[in-house]
Amino acid sequence: MSRIVVAEDISPAGLDILRKAGHEVVELADAKRDRLLQELATADALLVRSRTKVDAALLAAGPHLSVVGRAGVGVDNVDVAAASARGVLVINAPTGNVVSAVEHTFALLLALLRRVAPASASLASGKWEKSKFVGSELAGKTLGIVGLGQVGSRVAARARAFEARLLGHDPYLPMEKAREMGIALVPLEELLANSDIVTLHATATEGGRPLLGREEFAKMKPGAVLVNVARGSLVDRAALHEALVSGKLAGAALDVFDPEPPDPADPLLSLPNVVATPHLGASTVEAQERVSLQTAEAVAEALAGASSPPS
Ligand SMILES: NC(=O)c1ccc[n+]([C@@H]2O[C@H](COP(=O)([O-])OP(=O)(O)OC[C@H]3O[C@@H](n4cnc5c(N)ncnc54)[C@H](O)[C@@H]3O)[C@@H](O)[C@H]2O)c1
Repeated sequence: MSRIVVAEDISPAGLDILRKAGHEVVELADAKRDRLLQELATADALLVRSRTKVDAALLAAGPHLSVVGRAGVGVDNVDVAAASARGVLVINAPTGNVVSAVEHTFALLLALLRRVAPASASLASGKWEKSKFVGSELAGKTLGIVGLGQVGSRVAARARAFEARLLGHDPYLPMEKAREMGIALVPLEELLANSDIVTLHATATEGGRPLLGREEFAKMKPGAVLVNVARGSLVDRAALHEALVSGKLAGAALDVFDPEPPDPADPLLSLPNVVATPHLGASTVEAQERVSLQTAEAVAEALAGASSPPS
């Protein structure tokens, strides 16, 4: 039996799997870091979502840790190098959130095109401003998808049902795969110059230059819109603000920021042509359950491997 410390709210379905496998599950959802450090002293495994920073100090507090499970896509909040140095396996749930992220992309994109957020706020304030909120259709528009992995490829499939024209950019995707998806792969510059809507689904840029900065916004079609449900670090926020204020871009829909949460005074957030959500891409009942199950199964497997004698 292993002792598993659960540092955040994780859907019960996964925790049940771990209990049924005979493990002790210690739920610390709202506990302060001090308490977490204390509990880690005797823990074999740690489960987190995105709030807990699993840094070198936290890992050092768990001398018996053999696995860290991150219930989500990516391991941005885990110092993987520090974990590896201690022989701690880091596990995530790479596909559990995908459909939710895809659907949130459309929620934000359509909300932006049809001006749902300002129209709703206007109605809530007692007004009936029918002519103020004229939107535009997705049908017939060119949708440029940057990153055609799990999320991007499904955005493409659903966008086809909306009768959008598709362009894609993904330097690591074989042409053959793109052809199967029915997408024309083009260089980023060409995608930016020809898309009415650019939607980002690439992996985060580590430390380097954001994928979209002043130069890239200058290359976009005047009046185009940007959707970012991927990672905040992909976009230079100041350059985006400039492009929105100057009218070069007609709008932006953002679910992700760098850092998170963003500064509440960030002028980008209060622009009338920006619709933004607090990293809700994966926040559905279904995704959380799927992610919890996938992470728990992988952690149980890793613990079974760690406790079985080498063959
Ligand atoms: N908002 C949310 O809650 C939420 C939820 C799920 C995923 N995400 C994010 O969405 C993004 C996509 O997730 P995924 O599961 O599809 O990942 P994935 O790894 O399956 O796909 C990422 C794709 O991006 C491509 N890529 C890498 N660098 C690129 C570049 N410079 N230009 C264009 N393409 C590039 C890769 O080749 C890959 O095909 C990730 O950044 C992920 O962190 C956000």
